[in-house]
Amino acid sequence: MSIVSGTRTATAESMAEADDATRRRDHRLGFADQTEEVRVDALPVSGDVPTWLRGGLVRVTPAQMDFDQRSVSHWFDGMAMLNRFGFAGDGSVSYASRFLDTDARKAALASGGAAISGFATDPCRSLFQRVQSLFSPELTDNANVNLTRLGDEYIAMTETPIPVRFDPETLATLGHDEGAARFGQITTAHPHHDPERGELVNFAAQLGAKSEYRIYARSSSTEGRTLATMGVREPSYMHSFAITPRYALLIENPLVVNPLRLALSGKAFIHNYRWKPELGVRIHAFDRETGVLHRSWVADPFFVFHTINAFEDGEDIVIDLCAHEDASIIELLELEKLRAGSGHAVLGARPLRLTLAAGSGVASTRELADVDLELPRIAYRTRNGLPYRYVYGGSAGEAAFLKRLVKIDVEDGSHVVWDEPNAWAGEPVFVPRPDGDAEDDGVVLSVVMDAEAGSSFLLMLDAQTFEEIARAEAPHRVPFGFHGQFFGS
Ligand code: CO
Repeated sequence: MSIVSGTRTATAESMAEADDATRRRDHRLGFADQTEEVRVDALPVSGDVPTWLRGGLVRVTPAQMDFDQRSVSHWFDGMAMLNRFGFAGDGSVSYASRFLDTDARKAALASGGAAISGFATDPCRSLFQRVQSLFSPELTDNANVNLTRLGDEYIAMTETPIPVRFDPETLATLGHDEGAARFGQITTAHPHHDPERGELVNFAAQLGAKSEYRIYARSSSTEGRTLATMGVREPSYMHSFAITPRYALLIENPLVVNPLRLALSGKAFIHNYRWKPELGVRIHAFDRETGVLHRSWVADPFFVFHTINAFEDGEDIVIDLCAHEDASIIELLELEKLRAGSGHAVLGARPLRLTLAAGSGVASTRELADVDLELPRIAYRTRNGLPYRYVYGGSAGEAAFLKRLVKIDVEDGSHVVWDEPNAWAGEPVFVPRPDGDAEDDGVVLSVVMDAEAGSSFLLMLDAQTFEEIARAEAPHRVPFGFHGQFFGS
């Protein structure tokens, strides 16, 4: 990783670039600000929306990147906005969008952007403030990555342990979820549900003179426990992890940090990490019942944001994930690069299967299909941690960014594609039909930007045929984002 250093103040060029971004008629439009908050009771709909679909698809996206004094440096640091497509069960679709009312956004607005300190936007800080931050690290509450349910609460998450509670109907911000912070300073926005225990299982890292990985579980904002711990000298950056009924599986990217550097450098979070391919990818399986480290494996180096699924095969363990060749994807997602349209930002994420044999310390790998894949989703409720057949995801193909949707059959390696001219599709979310038997009996929902029209629509595909069944036209452009969830009513 290169180091992007120092404070960048807004220049005439960077502001002009931001203006340009709103005029471009391709994927770059997805990285322009959208600060309008709207509420529409009934969107124009074509096709037939299934009447069994009741509830809301809520997504979180970085929606404000530009401020009076400067812009954020990285897409991951844009201010979080919630978008909700609501389904009443009568064929109609409503829409609403609202910013999360976070401390991070308030500070960014008040300081013209100077006070932003996030994933990869370097803070404007005096040396004095840097030294102070060693003792009380400044963690952002800009929860723009993912959403989930914890007990009766709905929370928005980033990789700091300060989730933000929100109302899934009105999208109002309700305050912080205070209970996550005791497990570590860094966590993931991809917790797993354990339906049997009614818990959210997650990974955290505690950084310090003695750093530690922790697997923890929470049943509510106040109830939680640590399942397993492991000492580590140079913690890895991990965006997600996997579980099976018996194991919690950490997949250590060879992108690691010296914790002292993180405390003292004054640089943004990820700029302190170093790419060390000689480490390979180390995988650790922890027994979820006893917390004991069951076994570890190593694989040839790659970089992973997202696991797809994992399952036990006798005494062996299988993990499927989206593998990038290296961590340069992080730099390719810097805002200026995305807005300039340079490079193929997401090419090279391969759906990869790792087989962790009981008698070996080396993982064997093979590609699941001959297609690129990111933002993967499965029939989570019935298949997470278990043998499964289908994964849905975004795919770039020949385009410069994620554009198409794909459905891969991981059993035979075949795949089908949904694509349309000028369309740039976001993460596909599978919603099962109630009482459906087949793994893919349901719909796939994706927010798609029509770059030519300059607006977005909600696409509904039959998950089995991968053909369109309906679409609802949003009143404006929904910026590109990462993850969303369907919350049934
Ligand atoms: Co993610």
